[in-house]
Amino acid sequence: MAPMDRRKFLSRATVAIAAAIGIGWAVPGVAYVLSPAKKKTGEAEWIVLGAADRVDIGTPSLFKAKVTKTSGWVSTEAEVAVYVVTHDGREFRGFSNVCTHLGCRVRWVADQNEFFCPCHNGVFSVDGQVVAGPPPRGLDEFPVKVEDGQIFVSLEA
Ligand code: FES
Repeated sequence: MAPMDRRKFLSRATVAIAAAIGIGWAVPGVAYVLSPAKKKTGEAEWIVLGAADRVDIGTPSLFKAKVTKTSGWVSTEAEVAVYVVTHDGREFRGFSNVCTHLGCRVRWVADQNEFFCPCHNGVFSVDGQVVAGPPPRGLDEFPVKVEDGQIFVSLEA
């Protein structure tokens, strides 16, 4: 190879290597910047809670699930707890276990047939309505569906 050809070759090889490195950096960078913007919104995300046959008629059952929430580039994992109630085995409703007063956890008291919040003696009916105490409104309700015997909840109510 003549000296001039070698110089040309090295020049072109340098440009090719620089271009490859540039593309290698640019593609993930652009994907990183655009990915949150491309995320679909408005679609309900259904979270599986567990088997529907775990829910006795007229008695709320507590289900827990781990969810990952993404805001922009930040993802956090959290546990959600949902009381699922049915009165006929066909229609299911899901209620938050977070008291609407100051956010304590309510629990189902079977012999009283009501939800009880121990922080300020808040009481809710089996359908989440306020019965007594300071809570300003009933328990938050989430959409629930049953498919193939599994209960799903959407937290985007
Ligand atoms: S936090 Fe539940 S009654 Fe106050």
